[in-house]
Amino acid sequence: MQSQKLIHPSKYFGIEIQKIEFEKIFSNNWIFAAMESDLTENNSYLTLEIFEYPIVIRNFKGELKAFQNICPHRFNKIHTETKGNGIFICKYHNWSFDKDGKPKTIPQKHTFDTNCNEFNCLKVKSLSLAKVGKFIFFTLNPNAPTIESYLGIFYFKLLEISNAINNNFYFDDDVQKINWKIVVENVIEAYHCPAIHQETLYGMGFCRKPEANDEYYNGHSVADYPKIDDASTENKILKYLQNREFQHETFRHYFIFPNLLISSTEATSIYVGNILPINSEKTILRKRFYDSKFKNDFEPKKTIHDAFLEMVKISINKILLEDKVVLEQVQKNMPFVNQTYFLGTEEKRIVQFHKKYLETIS
Ligand code: FES
Ligand SMILES: [Fe+2]
Repeated sequence: MQSQKLIHPSKYFGIEIQKIEFEKIFSNNWIFAAMESDLTENNSYLTLEIFEYPIVIRNFKGELKAFQNICPHRFNKIHTETKGNGIFICKYHNWSFDKDGKPKTIPQKHTFDTNCNEFNCLKVKSLSLAKVGKFIFFTLNPNAPTIESYLGIFYFKLLEISNAINNNFYFDDDVQKINWKIVVENVIEAYHCPAIHQETLYGMGFCRKPEANDEYYNGHSVADYPKIDDASTENKILKYLQNREFQHETFRHYFIFPNLLISSTEATSIYVGNILPINSEKTILRKRFYDSKFKNDFEPKKTIHDAFLEMVKISINKILLEDKVVLEQVQKNMPFVNQTYFLGTEEKRIVQFHKKYLETIS
């Protein structure tokens, strides 16, 4: 492990590395942006920013499109809310746009002198979008490889999880004073669970057996964190969960490079984490929680199901807060160290992440 080439701590802060990462990592690859559940209705939209580069994903009568969220007139941000429903209009001078980003209405259009046909040269910049099951990605790179080749075996894994995912019952943005890579590193190992998730994950019987079934491709990874054999108390959780479509008896975690985290606690609930770097020392963790699909149209009793979802919401947020407290401290220490991490075998997914990162930015 010690001979592994890892990321130097100087790459966890400062404006220089941010520019490099935006160019080499976030402008080149497929970036996770949204879930189908965010954009179910006509005219619904979702915004996000990657190092402050603004993006909007919109639904035009069922067709999903991604754009740079900048008005071509005088560069106002078109949609300012995180999520919403409304026509594609910039509120500064009320220019509106069609599904190709072309200006549709321009107040006092005759006052503009332009040679370009039908204002075609003044389109909102559109970005490539790809949908894999319920997961939506965009790329700033017009020559990016197909999403299938980018994801490899993980393409099919995302389709499988999409089939397990039911309703989105929680959505929230959490601003964290942490470099985005530290957020990734933390979730791709369960070695920290017994220490900081005593009452939550560890208490449920996870993180007491070695990591298993790890698979890797192109910087993406997945692993199972099995449960101890006699975790009887948790197995009693609401009988009706036996009717869920997708089942596995582990805490399973997926990481899709560079910014998608998915964890499934025995497929009873699914957490989708979206890492959105603000700068090299600040990150938004966009959290979405889903319940699981049941077999054969089984309808759980509403009161029981609502109580279960409330419990999941409290529990996942507690876990994430336990992580955040430690990670913000790690971030603060980065300027004072000069050697790379010292990793054990339970942290081997981090080695793979660093490898992909270093290859990408070189
Ligand atoms: S800046 Fe958008 S309409 Fe003027
Ligand atoms: Fe954690």
